[in-house]
Amino acid sequence: MKIDVLTLFPNMYDNFLTESIIKRAIDRNLVEINIHNIRDYTVYSNNQVDDYPFGGGGGMVLMCDPIFRAVEALNNDDAFVIMMTPSGKVYKQSIAYDLSKHKHIIILCGHYEGFDERIKSIVDLELSIGDYVLTGGELPSMVVMDSVIRLTQDVISKESLESESFDNNLLDYPNYTKPYEYRGMKVPDVLLSGHHENIKKYRHSEQIRLTKENRPDLLGGSHE
Ligand code: ADE
Repeated sequence: MKIDVLTLFPNMYDNFLTESIIKRAIDRNLVEINIHNIRDYTVYSNNQVDDYPFGGGGGMVLMCDPIFRAVEALNNDDAFVIMMTPSGKVYKQSIAYDLSKHKHIIILCGHYEGFDERIKSIVDLELSIGDYVLTGGELPSMVVMDSVIRLTQDVISKESLESESFDNNLLDYPNYTKPYEYRGMKVPDVLLSGHHENIKKYRHSEQIRLTKENRPDLLGGSHE
């Protein structure tokens, strides 16, 4: 999988790309991530990429031309183009699964007042990571990349992906490790029983209990 990110703040990605599972996936050539500065694609004087909104109002708006030029330069293979914006569709695990099937994704990160509306004409999906406004699309793009890359083949073991939160609209079951007893809190006996069927039943009932407690909204809908 190849991911191209368009941003005004490329340095924000330095740590993201050089730590942990993402770094390992890059080193193993399982994913290629390229961070591009939108300013490299402008032909306006003074490297201009944004301007005041028509009609007034605060903040600056990213202009069409630098973004169109950048996407046209990078998209030679029918890439899937995503725009990070608080007014997009709210991101969730089923979207991460869908995105993990693409060979090439281009992610547009806005800042300030966002994008000229006409940029949407070259975008396949507008995504928000939640109902709050951040200073830009950079952190949201890292959230999307992280969740997609871990689902990409061979990045992490199949076993680790087998039961996770949001599969079948349920949260994950609780886990325990050594010691058996810590400050008076014991590991549930069923987990030590070696009885696989009972362990499975216990974990499923815990998933339902936790989902009812923390995310009753998930139990209302079917899996998309
Ligand atoms: N840019 C600013 N806030 C955002 C959000 N919540 N999701 C995606 N992009 C954003």
